[in-house]
Amino acid sequence: MVLGGRYELVEKLGQGGMGTVHRGVDRRLRRTVAVKLLSSALAHDPQSRARFQREAHAAAALNHPAVATIHDVGEEPHPDDDPRPYLVMEYVQGATLAEVLRGGPLPVADAVNAACAVLDALRHSHECGIVHRDIKPSNIMLTGPDTVKVLDFGIAKAFAETATRITGSGAAIGTPAYLSPEQINGAEIDHRADLYAMGCLLHELLTGQPPFRGESPFAVMHQHLFAAPEPVSRLRPQVPPAVEAVILRALGKDPKERFADAGQMREALADALTQTSMPTVQATTPGPPATRPGGRTALRHTFRISLRPSTDSALALLGCLLSLLCARGRLVDTAHFGWLAIAAGVLGLVTLPWSARLSCAVSWGPVAEAVAVNSELRRAYIGWYHSYVAIAALLAMAAACCLVSAARSQERGAGSLIAFWFSATASIWYFLDDLHKLYVFYLLLSLVVVATVSWETVERVRHRAGTGGQHWKGRPPR
Ligand SMILES: Nc1ncnc2c1ncn2[C@@H]1O[C@H](COP(=O)(O)OP(=O)(O)OP(=O)(O)O)[C@@H](O)[C@H]1O
Ligand SMILES: [Mg+2]
Repeated sequence: MVLGGRYELVEKLGQGGMGTVHRGVDRRLRRTVAVKLLSSALAHDPQSRARFQREAHAAAALNHPAVATIHDVGEEPHPDDDPRPYLVMEYVQGATLAEVLRGGPLPVADAVNAACAVLDALRHSHECGIVHRDIKPSNIMLTGPDTVKVLDFGIAKAFAETATRITGSGAAIGTPAYLSPEQINGAEIDHRADLYAMGCLLHELLTGQPPFRGESPFAVMHQHLFAAPEPVSRLRPQVPPAVEAVILRALGKDPKERFADAGQMREALADALTQTSMPTVQATTPGPPATRPGGRTALRHTFRISLRPSTDSALALLGCLLSLLCARGRLVDTAHFGWLAIAAGVLGLVTLPWSARLSCAVSWGPVAEAVAVNSELRRAYIGWYHSYVAIAALLAMAAACCLVSAARSQERGAGSLIAFWFSATASIWYFLDDLHKLYVFYLLLSLVVVATVSWETVERVRHRAGTGGQHWKGRPPR
């Protein structure tokens, strides 16, 4: 199919609420382009077709590296139907944020950097008087480690009214997950509607889900109007409070509660990253190249301590306290156990601010041993009796809780898993004791601790490298 005698459609790239997008070739300039052919349902109304032309002309004036350039706009006549409007734009290579999100939430620095890049584009378009109105993951393409292209400027405005008639709802073209309260109310809209959508987008990039979800579009819209968003840190404790504060402000129900403009929100986000010593992107307006913190900063970041409460740190703290309790209570009647349990408890407390996972590995060992010894004694002296069954049930419950906690935790459930493994380790203690080879048990504990230190360090170093761009590179361009 050739549109306007010039644009040859080669391959369908995707389908959205407003039409289909094709990869095409501009025969005149001999270059690859992307062509959005609008659906016939939207093409009936001559007024909205005219508005589409106007908005496309306005959006074509945008000139920014993070905005997909509009090359042309036109209408393809149809013998028995209304003419179909189409938009010719820059062909962008990469993956949309919607595609990237299928692989799970992004590392915090990557999510914030992507949001900063989108805010750069919005700052430019707002300065030119253009509100996007449909900021969402499928309208943003990742083109490189820290670079994005925002798609579909001007389209949502052109068809807002037509969509209202078609869908019968306020402004609902596509998903309502990113609609601001004023868009839902049909009130006057300004650039702050985009900032609200940016709050929703950042929430999703960090947690894998938009702030408001529901069974129906109306349930979601109702929440946009009346519900408080679930704090990002509850879904992902690693998100720094400063980043969470930016999201909450962007999600203000009243536009006055939000940032005054995209530049202000971008600055707040960049500051939030700097405070947490993660790398920030440079503005995509021309400027010096992005600086990455050097080795020393990376090392500092790797061993950065955090006092944020989480399920894992609560589990680790419990392990430390129990370990100290075991030492005091003389639960295990061997000369070295008391000292070992105290050392493990104290070491667990010391390492807790750096890594809950390591703290778990250190502190739960003696607890597991104490449980094993006592259950063994009870089994030996009393036989398979009530108290032994009770201890076994308790162990099973602890193991189940640890497993559930590990499954629920988005990233660092390993601490709970280690606690689970320690509960399980208790069972092999019997055999080692019977064989008079208890030193193997201690060897095992030490190995787990060493493995955990290496695991934690390697993962942090790798994450550090990932936030320096590897993560993006790992995602395949289309
Ligand atoms: N300029 C472009 N370059 C390359 N691929 C594009 C371009 N524009 C869109 N696409 C691809 O086409 C797909 C469909 O885009 P489209 O805008 O039609 O759908 P959408 O964003 O999901 O919904 P909506 O119609 O609400 O915007 C996108 O997900 C993207 O993969
Ligand atoms: Mg789109």
